[in-house]
Amino acid sequence: MSKLAKKGVMSIKPYQPGKPIDEVKRELLLDEVYKLASNENSLGPSKKALTAIKDALSDLNRYPDGNCYYLKVEASKNLGFKPENFVFGNGSDELIAIIIQAFMNEDENAIIAEPTFLEYRLIAEAYGRRVKVVPSVNMKYDIDGMRKAIDDKTKLVFIANPDNPTGTYITDKQLTKFLENIPGDVIVVMDEAYYDFIDAKDYPDTVRHLKDKNLIILRTFSKAYGLAGLRVGFALANSELVECMNRVRQPFNVNSLAQVGASAALADTTHLKKTRQTVLKGKKFLYGALDRIGLSYVPSQTNFILVDVKKDSWDVFQKLLRYGVIVRDMKPYKLDSYIRVTIGTDKENRKFIEAVKKVIKED
Ligand SMILES: Cc1ncc(COP(=O)(O)O)c(C=O)c1O
Repeated sequence: MSKLAKKGVMSIKPYQPGKPIDEVKRELLLDEVYKLASNENSLGPSKKALTAIKDALSDLNRYPDGNCYYLKVEASKNLGFKPENFVFGNGSDELIAIIIQAFMNEDENAIIAEPTFLEYRLIAEAYGRRVKVVPSVNMKYDIDGMRKAIDDKTKLVFIANPDNPTGTYITDKQLTKFLENIPGDVIVVMDEAYYDFIDAKDYPDTVRHLKDKNLIILRTFSKAYGLAGLRVGFALANSELVECMNRVRQPFNVNSLAQVGASAALADTTHLKKTRQTVLKGKKFLYGALDRIGLSYVPSQTNFILVDVKKDSWDVFQKLLRYGVIVRDMKPYKLDSYIRVTIGTDKENRKFIEAVKKVIKED
């Protein structure tokens, strides 16, 4: 039957999500399992978002607002852009697909780094579009190399800033120089999924480039806002690019619970601050603990850390599961001795450190 698939589909490697908690409990007969695999918010969703969602349940017989009106108003208050500069999506994953559908012709390519978020390649390939891969250097984007890779068939450049899975970022200076030197018919997608965890002083104020560049900024409610299960993210761009994206978007792509939940989460600045503090404190703890164990890691601007376990990453991943800790094996990113761990609550971070200490001593 797979012969019926469109050309190229059978060579796509499906995305492997983090292993769910219930699956690990079931398979390994464990009562307590800690998931530090998908860069979710360990504090949970904002209580205000939960209340808004509960209040909206009785309207589920109605279609959602296809224009996300109230959510756009809340987001524009928050970010200082007009509602017409926003496109909301079923997670930023969907926005990546919308961007590829709206802008890439069949013979055009997108520039991506390696390692980077795997969805750029997977979604482009699912639409039969080509990517040109520019390897990163010392876990950082080779931004000059990415500029040089642009050819007359390049339409998009995807930059995860900070990057997943490395946690590294490109600076304001690097981004400004990059944007000054790219052709006017290339669109740069700045994926800022981890924006709320940044503490680097030289991280770019990307929105200031929106006025005069072909630029799309992506943000998500799945990380700092703790709403990964609702699936909602947004793109910020000039209104002409927004208009193109709206033409390929499904009319009801963001469900009504996601709209009210995200709106309430945006207004709950207390929960956001607490989340940020938890991550920054947890990062410090994990750096110190990893230093003491003698494991090196890549300094991160996100809510996760890429750790070199100096052993087969799949094997370490499996052994950590036995201690009830789910991390992410980095083999799919060609980082065979690395795992990626989400920064969690104090308890989760300690559980991870206790488990990893034991696992690296095993043969
Ligand atoms: C860089 C990056 N972009 C986008 C996403 C997808 O986020 P969403 O849940 O909004 O689809 C992720 C999720 O891990 C990510 O790491």
